[in-house]
Amino acid sequence: MSKFSKVNAYVSAVGHWMPRRVVTNHHFASYLDTTDEWIKTRTGISERRFLEDDQPTSYAAVKAIEATLENRGISAEELDLIIVATVTPDMIYPSTACIIQEKIGAKNCWGYDILAACSGFIFSLATAAQFIESGMHKKVLVVGAEKMSAIVNMQDRNTCVLFGDGAAAFLLEPTEDKSMGVMDSILHIDGKGGKFLFQPAGGSLNPTTHATVDKGMQFVHQEGQAVFKEAVKGMADISVELMEKNNLKSGDVAFLVPHQANLRIIQACADRMKVGMDKVMVNIQKYGNTTSATIPSCVSEYWQEGKIKKGDNLILTSFGAGFTWGSILLKWGI
Ligand code: COA
Repeated sequence: MSKFSKVNAYVSAVGHWMPRRVVTNHHFASYLDTTDEWIKTRTGISERRFLEDDQPTSYAAVKAIEATLENRGISAEELDLIIVATVTPDMIYPSTACIIQEKIGAKNCWGYDILAACSGFIFSLATAAQFIESGMHKKVLVVGAEKMSAIVNMQDRNTCVLFGDGAAAFLLEPTEDKSMGVMDSILHIDGKGGKFLFQPAGGSLNPTTHATVDKGMQFVHQEGQAVFKEAVKGMADISVELMEKNNLKSGDVAFLVPHQANLRIIQACADRMKVGMDKVMVNIQKYGNTTSATIPSCVSEYWQEGKIKKGDNLILTSFGAGFTWGSILLKWGI
């Protein structure tokens, strides 16, 4: 990314893992005032996956990391750093990175969590690239992992139909080929957006008490329409800015990889960017919004299906609570 660094950070392996338990729209229609038709037409989601009660976020993360390491043919002991993007850590602390490190036996690495909601993976990927480009590390693992089913109110039709659980990872390594890998990024936060999407209790502002639980303050609160409009504008405008900065026309982009919060947001974003939907990665119909895992799971699935070629330009873009948003230009290298 930096023209002064000797190496670029490229994605040398990807992997994803989704829970076995499939929860269809009909499940929610069986006990809430909603329908399969409403959910499909308003969000594009047909089903999502939920982890079992005894499976925390780290369970999904470990499975995705194991798939990634297997695809690269290396052991966890070779990792230098693990960065975990999540809003659903197993516990507030220790970090989920520590829990994962022990579970996979990554004896020679350090790590930490990044909390940037739906932009967690983008922010983590941009951060990970810095450790490679600086020469500090050779193998950095970035995983987006979530158990959103643990923090949504299953009685609130406005939110419970939107989210899902899952995990996906990228392995980053150095390359001397400066025309490949993480090429550029634009990242933003704006705290004015905080009031539209947040989890009110469980932190130091509103520690968990009987009263906070009685009021449902441990769950996701969202003003859907306010987030919708900002998400379209945020993702599209920043992606166009990134393309212009790098002299790319829409024909030069193999795939736009948008955060998967709502198919209508994705379509409006593609329209605003003048990119055809055939060039947009989509898996929201199967998994819903898996927060930090949407972007890497799309890339991993499309790669597994042989749809991404070496040299392809991918624009990864996200928008989430905070507000947080960003775009990364990634030139595919495997
Ligand atoms: N089934 C049936 N009706 C529902 C419903 C459901 N599951 N969820 C909401 N509704 C109702 C609302 O209660 C509202 O009813 P009212 O008019 O009687 O008050 C009506 O549908 C319209 O609600 P509205 O919020 O205007 O719908 P919408 O078209 O904006 O869609 C979202 C709602 C949440 C799907 C949409 O706003 C969205 O996707 N927002 C962004 C979400 C997002 O990006 N989140 C994460 C960011 S990272």
